[in-house]
Amino acid sequence: MSTPTRSGLNCHLVVATLLLALLGIAQVESHLHGHGHGHDTVVELSGHRKLGALSEGVTRVASLTDEAGPWNSFKTLLDTKLGDVRTGVGALKSYLQQFGYISKTDAPAGTPFTDTFDNITQTAVMNYQRSFGLTVTGRLDVATLTQMITPRCGREDVINGTLIMLQRGLTATGTQHVSVGSQKWASFAGNPRWTRKNLTYAIDSTLLSPAVTQTDTEIAIDTAFAQWSAVTNLTFTRIQSLTTADITISFDLLDHGDGNPFDGQLGVLAHAYAPTNGRLHFDNSESWSINIQSASSTLKDFDLVSVAVHEIGHLIGLEHSSVPDAIMYPSISPLSSKQALNADDIAGAQSLYGANPTFTPGTTTPGTGGNLGAAVASWRRLRAMDVALSCFGLLVASLFI
Ligand SMILES: *[C@@H]1O[C@H](CO)[C@@H](O)[C@H](O)[C@H]1NC(C)=O
Ligand SMILES: *[C@@H]1O[C@H](CO)[C@@H](O)[C@H](O)[C@H]1NC(C)=O
Ligand SMILES: *[C@@H]1O[C@H](CO)[C@@H](O)[C@H](O)[C@H]1NC(C)=O
Ligand SMILES: *[C@@H]1O[C@H](CO)[C@@H](O)[C@H](O)[C@H]1NC(C)=O
Repeated sequence: MSTPTRSGLNCHLVVATLLLALLGIAQVESHLHGHGHGHDTVVELSGHRKLGALSEGVTRVASLTDEAGPWNSFKTLLDTKLGDVRTGVGALKSYLQQFGYISKTDAPAGTPFTDTFDNITQTAVMNYQRSFGLTVTGRLDVATLTQMITPRCGREDVINGTLIMLQRGLTATGTQHVSVGSQKWASFAGNPRWTRKNLTYAIDSTLLSPAVTQTDTEIAIDTAFAQWSAVTNLTFTRIQSLTTADITISFDLLDHGDGNPFDGQLGVLAHAYAPTNGRLHFDNSESWSINIQSASSTLKDFDLVSVAVHEIGHLIGLEHSSVPDAIMYPSISPLSSKQALNADDIAGAQSLYGANPTFTPGTTTPGTGGNLGAAVASWRRLRAMDVALSCFGLLVASLFI
């Protein structure tokens, strides 16, 4: 463990940041991707949450604890860096390994990671920061922890040591990203793709999201497939038979038999396999929604269509992209709607399958790109405050030791 004094010193800047955030200045937001304006009920609700006195802020952030899901404990690791030994670093290493940033050979199955922030961890954190376009510090700063806590797709960002999100269009030199092209989409190693263009899909109706009817689930999935068929020569037809369909879609809980168990609410939201495996699994512990604009939406609701469009990208052969506005970016905040393909997604899909003759280059697909921008920004600001406040708690504790 770090000494209390050192934690306290590390916290001064963070507490300053926190106070600025509470005053609405929110410096940390400049590192984050939330943006936009909205004026509906949900946004108003979120707007209230960020206001108020410090004590109210503390109470509200405490009540948000489980909204951050399985990765919430990472917020206690603020400012951890090379050489530090702190409870929870082992769990962070498991997270980095889950998404490919630490090799499977660095901790054989069944061997728990130690709580030492070693040089392998530092390299992994720097690669994570590069992949997500964050400042490469190698330490667990507010922006990095906030990004790590954000729910995301279960697929890895690093495969066999290759930083997929940077393999095209970006090179990492030292601590700077140098953009050498606008395209950042990636395909799987060996470019696996479907050879037939007329694909079928079936939805397993034995277990659906409790919050979405079967008909609405079908409409949502149809809408998501339509994004990709609008830009490529692929066609997708929904059929009933799970055994003959090229693609099967199911809602699964925790360990569902594919070796990639889900983690309960928040954390990983879904995963899908590369061509021509054809399986897409949604984590059924999530609160799926087809109407995030509803006044009854909560900060745990995820737009089913948005996540489906991302996972179908994997099904047809696309990997994660480092473009924050791309569908293939790995993470998504609750109440966020990102249904329309970005130019980066379109370039990737068309390079695998050719362009749909009816697609007009330079346009986007018809899904709603509309985002509850203010709500999402507010969610991310709260996450950042949550991270900062955990350190504030350490500082207060250190005054009494
Ligand atoms: C990482 O640390 C280990 C053990 O301290 C050392 O043997 C190794 O050379 C270091 N590697 C790098 C790349 O610094
Ligand atoms: C990683 O590399 C190994 C050995 O070269 C190979 O067998 C494996 O298929 C690769 N994994 C992926 C996902 O490309
Ligand atoms: C797809 O097209 C091929 C060739 O036209 C045809 O033989 C096949 O039956 C079609 N499959 C489906 C599922 O429509
Ligand atoms: C796409 O489909 C159109 C019409 O069927 C065809 O003319 C074109 O060659 C196809 N393009 C590719 C790249 O397959």
